[in-house]
Amino acid sequence: MSIHVLGIFGSLRQESSNRGLVLLAQKLAPAEVSFTFYDKIGSLPFYNEDLEDPSRTPASVIDWRNVVASADALFIAAPEYNFGPSAVLKNAIDWATRPMGQHVLSGKVISLISSSGGTGGAHMIEQLGGILGLLGNTVISEPNGQIAKGAERISPAGSTTDPAIQALVTDRMSALIATVHSTRH
Ligand SMILES: Cc1cc2nc3c(=O)[nH]c(=O)nc-3n(C[C@H](O)[C@H](O)[C@H](O)COP(=O)(O)O)c2cc1C
Repeated sequence: MSIHVLGIFGSLRQESSNRGLVLLAQKLAPAEVSFTFYDKIGSLPFYNEDLEDPSRTPASVIDWRNVVASADALFIAAPEYNFGPSAVLKNAIDWATRPMGQHVLSGKVISLISSSGGTGGAHMIEQLGGILGLLGNTVISEPNGQIAKGAERISPAGSTTDPAIQALVTDRMSALIATVHSTRH
């Protein structure tokens, strides 16, 4: 059975290197994987519990939840901002975790990597990885997903001049697929 991987990037920047990492993962995905990506988290409103009233829930939120629900696994590439996750990504995660008790961001296999500045996203990976784990997902943390100053070596279209980055994305995709297979048995 085919595996559906959803790529998500946590930066809205047009030249985003994290967008590039997701596109690179899509290129490197083996044939058994159907890899799509979601590039609209920037159009989600700020989370507001009043909008959980079904008559008021925005179409963008319903679309986002449906897309997450349809995925077996997530491949997230996101920058570190001020030693944590970007607000736009955290906002999208909050939308995906409601309504309480029937939300779509649980039971997923998730790979989290980061193209950031000097830290390579170490703090962001630790914090967001912890959050996603507490939500009931299996978070893959090996091989180490920190890429320091990645924007110098990753194009937004999904190419890289650094073989180590290509190897990291290939290895992460393999780990993601192996973990999905192991959770299906
Ligand atoms: C507001 C802001 C805060 C940042 N804080 C950090 C940080 O704490 N650690 C770090 O390594 N890089 C930090 N950076 C650098 C970004 O992670 C880096 O520019 C990254 O490449 C942006 O991702 P993108 O190329 O996908 O847009 C920060 C950048 C901005 C704009």
